[in-house]
Amino acid sequence: MFGRHYLIAFAALQVVALVNLIPSWLIGRIVDGISTDTLDTQTMIIHVVGIIVSGAAMYGLRFVWQSKLYGASIAITRVIRSELFQKFSQLSPAFYARRSTGDLMAHATNDLNAVEETMGMGVMTLVDSLIAGITVILGMIFVVSGELTAVALLPFPLLVLITRRYGVKLHKAFGKAQSAFSDLTEETRETVSGIRAVRSHGISERQEQRFGKTLDETVDANLLVAKVDAAFGPTIQLVYGLSFVISLGYGAWLIEQGSITVGLFTSFTLYLGQLLGPFMQFGWQFNVFQRGKTSWRRLEQLFAENIEVVEGDKKLPKDADASMSFDIKSFTYQKANRKALDKVKFDLPSGGLVGITGPTGSGKSTLLHLALRQFQLEKPSSIHISGMPSDSLTFGSLRSKLAWVPQKPHLFSGTIAENIALAKPDASQAEIDHVAEMAGIRAEIEAMPEGFDTSLREGGTNLSGGQKQRLTLARALLSGADILLLDDPFSALDMKTEVQVRQNLKAHYSHKTMLLVTQRLTNLIEADHILVLNDGQVEERGSHHELVANKGWYSMVYQRQSQLGQSISGDAAIQGTGIEGKDDE
Ligand SMILES: Nc1ncnc2c1ncn2[C@@H]1O[C@H](COP(=O)(O)OP(=O)(O)OP(=O)(O)O)[C@@H](O)[C@H]1O
Ligand SMILES: [Mg+2]
Repeated sequence: MFGRHYLIAFAALQVVALVNLIPSWLIGRIVDGISTDTLDTQTMIIHVVGIIVSGAAMYGLRFVWQSKLYGASIAITRVIRSELFQKFSQLSPAFYARRSTGDLMAHATNDLNAVEETMGMGVMTLVDSLIAGITVILGMIFVVSGELTAVALLPFPLLVLITRRYGVKLHKAFGKAQSAFSDLTEETRETVSGIRAVRSHGISERQEQRFGKTLDETVDANLLVAKVDAAFGPTIQLVYGLSFVISLGYGAWLIEQGSITVGLFTSFTLYLGQLLGPFMQFGWQFNVFQRGKTSWRRLEQLFAENIEVVEGDKKLPKDADASMSFDIKSFTYQKANRKALDKVKFDLPSGGLVGITGPTGSGKSTLLHLALRQFQLEKPSSIHISGMPSDSLTFGSLRSKLAWVPQKPHLFSGTIAENIALAKPDASQAEIDHVAEMAGIRAEIEAMPEGFDTSLREGGTNLSGGQKQRLTLARALLSGADILLLDDPFSALDMKTEVQVRQNLKAHYSHKTMLLVTQRLTNLIEADHILVLNDGQVEERGSHHELVANKGWYSMVYQRQSQLGQSISGDAAIQGTGIEGKDDE
C-alpha cells in the first residue's frame, strides 16, 4: 500500500529530473544563437516558452511526488505509533519499574518524529538527490562533453569522504542529544506530577537545580549536533567551488580548441550548479538518516522488550464457577534479593471470602498482582481460576472474571461516571447510581455541582483519597466480574463509612467471591478463612475466632484495634502494631 505511493513519487521525481535539464539546455542554445548572431525572434520565443512550460511542469510534478511521499511517511508513522502504544500496554509492571516515564515519552514523541522525518523527508531527499544528481551528470556527459564532465567531477570523491566522516560524528552527537532529551522529559514529568510534594517540601530550588543541570546537558548535546551540522555545508561548498574553478579553466580551453560552443559551456556550468542542490541534499539526507537510524534503534529496543507475561489462549466456559486456588512455592521480584512470597497455598471457594492481612511489606499486594497476572509466576507455582491454570487463559477471560480494587486507586481523566463505567462503558445511569450507592459515595458525588458529570483531573487530584478509593470500588462492582480482589479498599475511609460499605457488600454482593486484603481486622470477622502473612510467609491461618484464640500477631492487633477503635480514629488505633494507616500517595 505504501509501496505504490513511493513508486508514483519516484516516477514523478524522475520526470522532474529530466524536465529539469531542459531550461539549462535552452539557455545554452540562446547563448549560442546570440554568439553566432543567428537568433531570430521566433526561435527566441519558442525557447523562452519552452523554459516556462518546463518550469510549470516541474511545479506540478513536484507537488505530486511530495504529497505522495509525505502521505506515505505519515501513514507509516501512524502504524508505528499505534504499535508502540500497543506494546506499552502489553508490557508488565516489571518493565515500567526499569524505565522512566519521561524516557518512554521521549521515545513516543522525539524518536517517532525522527523516524517520520526519515521516512518522509529522508527517503525523499535521498531518492531525489540520487535521481536528480545522476540525471544531471548524464545530461552533462551526453549533451555537453564526457571529457569536461570527468574533469569537473574530479573533486567529488573528496565530497563523498567528507560526507561520510560527518555522518559518523553526527550519529554519535545525535544519540547523545536524544538521551539527554529523555532525561529532560523525565525531569519535567517528575516535577510536574509531583508538584504538590515539591511545593510542600519546599524543594523547588533543588528541582530547579536538577532541571537546570539536565537542561545544560541537553543544550550541550544539541549544540554539538548543530556544530557538526553547521560545519558540513561550508565544507561542501568549498570543495564544490574547486570543481567550478577546474571546469572553468578546462572549459575555456575546450572552447578555444573548438570542441564545444560557448552555449554548450553555459549549459554545462548551469548543470554543474544544478548538481550542488542534490549534493547538499545528499549530505543533509545523511544527517536525517543518521538521526532516523539512531531513533529507530532506540525504538527497536523497545519493540524487542520481552512481553514477560504471555497471554494464554483458553477461554473460561460461560458457566465456570468463581473459585480460585493459589499454590505459590515462591515468588521473587526481578532484581530483588529476597522472596516476596514463600509457600503460600490456599483455596478461595466460589462465593467465599478469604482475608489476607499482615504487617506492611509482607506480600499481600504481591499476591493480588500475581492473581491478576501482572507478573510472571514461575513453575511449579500456579494459580487456578475455576480449575484452569490462570496462565492458560486469555487476558479477556481473566478480566471478565476478576475485578481489582488496587491499593493505590487510579483514575483517568474524564467524568466520574466514565471512571466508574470503565469496565462497562454502556452501563446505564441507574446502574452507576446503584454501585456508587453500594460503595458509599453516591451522596457525595451528587452533592458536587456537576454530580456524576464532574470532570476528574488527571489522577483524580480533585478528589480525596477516600473518595478515590470508593470510586474504584464502585468501578469493580459495576464490572460484573465474579471475583473481587480488594487491596485494602477501606484504608482511607472513616469508621462509619467503612462499616456502611462493608454492610452493603455483605447484603448485596455476598454471592461474589472475595479476596480481601485489609489491615482492619473487624473486616475479617466473617471471612471463611484468613491468612496472616509475614515476610512473604503464612504465619498464621484460620477463622477469625481461631486466630483470636491463637494469641499470635492477629489476636494482639485485634485486641488493640477493638480497645481503641470505638472512640478514637482507626489510624490512631493501629499505631504501634507494625501497621500504619497509609496514604494512597
Ligand atoms: N515491583 C516491585 N519490585 C520489587 N520489589 C517489590 C515490588 N513490589 C513490592 N516489592 C517488595 O515485595 C515485598 C512485598 O510487597 P507488597 O507490596 O506485596 O507488600 P504489602 O503486604 O502489600 O504491603 P502494604 O501493607 O504496605 O501494602 C516488599 O518487600 C516490597 O518491597
Ligand atoms: Mg500492599
